[in-house]
Amino acid sequence: MAGTKKVLVAGASGYLGRYAVREFKKRGYLVRALVRNPEKIKTPGPHGEPAVYDFVDEIVIGDVTNPESIEGICNGIDIVFSALGLTAPDPKLTSFDVDHLGNGRILQQALQQKVSRFIYVSVFNQDKMPDIPTIKAHELFVADLKASGLSWAVIRPNGYFSDMGRFFSMARSGHLFMVGEGEKKINPIHGADLAIVCADAANGESREIPAGGPDTYTFREVMEMAFLACGKSPWITTLPMWLAEGSLAVAGLFNRNLADLLSFAVEALKFDHIAPSYGTHHLKEFFAELAASDKHEV
Ligand SMILES: NC(=O)c1ccc[n+]([C@@H]2O[C@H](COP(=O)([O-])OP(=O)(O)OC[C@H]3O[C@@H](n4cnc5c(N)ncnc54)[C@H](OP(=O)(O)O)[C@@H]3O)[C@@H](O)[C@H]2O)c1
Repeated sequence: MAGTKKVLVAGASGYLGRYAVREFKKRGYLVRALVRNPEKIKTPGPHGEPAVYDFVDEIVIGDVTNPESIEGICNGIDIVFSALGLTAPDPKLTSFDVDHLGNGRILQQALQQKVSRFIYVSVFNQDKMPDIPTIKAHELFVADLKASGLSWAVIRPNGYFSDMGRFFSMARSGHLFMVGEGEKKINPIHGADLAIVCADAANGESREIPAGGPDTYTFREVMEMAFLACGKSPWITTLPMWLAEGSLAVAGLFNRNLADLLSFAVEALKFDHIAPSYGTHHLKEFFAELAASDKHEV
């Protein structure tokens, strides 16, 4: 179709990636999805993110740690959008391998094919946590992207509803450990709201776009809300920061990759994460939806 722009969505099976696929499709783009397992996008994700198989025009099966598997992924592409990253511990791979080098391989392909813009999802408050491995890996890629000569946008979200969903899962089990007093604040964002910010970033100057959601809570308030949504009384045990950091250091002796990813979660609790507010989805309703889907499963 002449005039129709083609977008490559990398990380299309993830929480944000699925909403991005749906949003780009809604705006009339032809969508090519990079996934490792196409079966995954035939069903909704664990936090209500949509099944997107039917929104996708082309599927490329590839793993960014295997260069041959992604050869040619940018052929005919106008815009690359990457929400591809390592968000769970992997026995073999680090954030450096995936977030930095993996996205770097997509960038090389984008440069060869002269795509018109590259939109990348990094993190908010990166300057406050420069030594955390996952932040370092994201920012190494951001530096490469900015130096590449391509037109770019870097989205900096503070925390997704899916991340808050982890508190919900723990509250559902009846008990929750909290590092520190939980007095720091965050305004997390729903994937659908963030996808609008991401698709809007397809046009305009090269720029950084910090983004959060409409409501601000302390971490303790988020946890209490999760308990209430499950119909349980809040039972929260506080762990002092020094103890959590000491435990991480010990965990790192046995499982470096797990400790590196957890270090982000612990470090993040030391600061407020209040980003410019976007969107209309509310965390309270999100928790209510998770609770309702639990009831259906019972
Ligand atoms: N969660 C948050 O609160 C938050 C906040 C700020 C920034 N971020 C960043 O935003 C990005 C997206 O987060 P998310 O929560 O949507 O993550 P997610 O649900 O874990 O999705 C990550 C995506 O990357 C893909 N991927 C990982 N390794 C890959 C590889 N080697 N080759 C090909 N694909 C690979 C995953 O594929 P599979 O489905 O096959 O695993 C998945 O599609 C991440 O970079 C994250 O660091 C997250």
